[in-house]
Amino acid sequence: SNLKHLFMCLLAISIYFSAIVHLIPVSTAKNGVSSKSRKRIMPDPVTEPPVTDPVYEALLYCNIPSVAERSMEGHAPHHFKLVSVHVFIRHGDRYPLYVIPKTKRPEIDCTLVANRKPYHPKLEAFVSHMSKGSGASFESPLNSLPLYPNHPLCEMGELTQTGVVQHLQNGQLLRDIYLKKHKLLPNDWSADQLYLETTGKSRTLQSGLALLYGFLPDFDWKKIYFRHQPSALFCSGTCYCPVRNQYLEKEQRRQYLLRLKNSQLEKTYGEMAKIVDVPTKQLRAANPIDSMLCHLCHNVSFPCTRNGCVDMEHFKVIKTHQIEDERERREKKLYLGYSLLGAHPILNQTIGRMQRATEGRKEELFALYSAHDVTLSPVLSALGLSEARFPRFAARLIFELWQDREKPNEHSVRILYNGVDVTFHTSFCQDHHKRSPKPMCPLENLVRFVKRDMFVALGGSSTNYYDACHREGF
Ligand SMILES: *[C@@H]1O[C@H](CO)[C@@H](O)[C@H](O)[C@H]1NC(C)=O
Ligand SMILES: *[C@@H]1O[C@H](CO)[C@@H](O)[C@H](O)[C@H]1NC(C)=O
Repeated sequence: SNLKHLFMCLLAISIYFSAIVHLIPVSTAKNGVSSKSRKRIMPDPVTEPPVTDPVYEALLYCNIPSVAERSMEGHAPHHFKLVSVHVFIRHGDRYPLYVIPKTKRPEIDCTLVANRKPYHPKLEAFVSHMSKGSGASFESPLNSLPLYPNHPLCEMGELTQTGVVQHLQNGQLLRDIYLKKHKLLPNDWSADQLYLETTGKSRTLQSGLALLYGFLPDFDWKKIYFRHQPSALFCSGTCYCPVRNQYLEKEQRRQYLLRLKNSQLEKTYGEMAKIVDVPTKQLRAANPIDSMLCHLCHNVSFPCTRNGCVDMEHFKVIKTHQIEDERERREKKLYLGYSLLGAHPILNQTIGRMQRATEGRKEELFALYSAHDVTLSPVLSALGLSEARFPRFAARLIFELWQDREKPNEHSVRILYNGVDVTFHTSFCQDHHKRSPKPMCPLENLVRFVKRDMFVALGGSSTNYYDACHREGF
């Protein structure tokens, strides 16, 4: 029934947008759904459907909040005790980072109001709690950022009401599972039981706060401390890694060559450039897909000029190319090399935190990292979850640490991506469940992977981060 629920959720999204994209006839909503459309709409959340529909993929990316979502977080046999939880999120829905040149940018209101959809019952309380926020709760320079979005015309990159609602929902879902059901934190939890870290953008800080508010409504500001992370890879202190940069350069070269091969894409950029009357190069550099996704996610029609309109066909061509690019990215493995090195510092930090918790330390039981697609994507890839979808708005990746009460020395982990248990899809636990009846992965597997095997996977002779980052003759 999880799948059924997910399906209803997707159906709701599809109906929501059918007016502009004609995905499915609205009438199918009345008496459930034919098996034909079920086949088309129901994806395996981890593996790609055989035929990828660019508009359908884009709507998943929007992640429009609808019915409450079911998830697999916290599922464990009753003799397992939850020890700690580590949450990596992408910020929620945001205004574009780029404008399409010479067009009016979409009119989206970033103030938070009750009579606009999507809505969350805690929205007003969130705003009121944020206005009481204290600067002492944040490491500089976070203390100069606004604590909730508030511009009647969104600023570039600003979190929207949709983005806030997405993370209030995430937080409430985690509250129901981890606090109410599994009592991860005592009622009188203390500041050092949380570990909170965010990049320096208002959208990541605000997303982190919205999730935290859903998780711990009306939290005491004196018990909150958000650390600032200057790097999107969350690697501060150990960011210097020349080999990682070489992988990235090769990956970018691959991306460039794939684009050149796609004549339909070039034609589409050419047409769009003509519509907005700028050189093709300038149009392409403005990354129009980012802005077009905003139009789509907010049901705002694409921009027009006196030369014509940007339309859904343009969108489909660019989005289809993006999907093909991701497919080739998986095959060529350059991004994997980048990811193994890029994700090491944050994974290393996470296992450190887990190991301290297994020793009975009661600190940092709930860790929250509020981040970006360029944070989650390398972590997913490094873990071997190459089939996982590109991180949608408000995506969440969760590591749960469990103790078997019957064998207190045994600790296990579960990995969940957007509520789906992907533990046995990871490269370090792929065939574990074939050999063992355990519903989880031994913590040792993850530790061995992070300490050594992820470097072995790079194919050289390095067995640690420093050597792998400085390998000669790569
Ligand atoms: C989307 O926009 C169209 C046209 O502006 C409107 O008719 C339709 O009701 C909107 N759909 C939703 C779900 O808001
Ligand atoms: C990994 O974490 C340990 C502490 O848990 C730390 O001493 C070590 O320097 C870290 N290594 C890297 C490469 O980040």
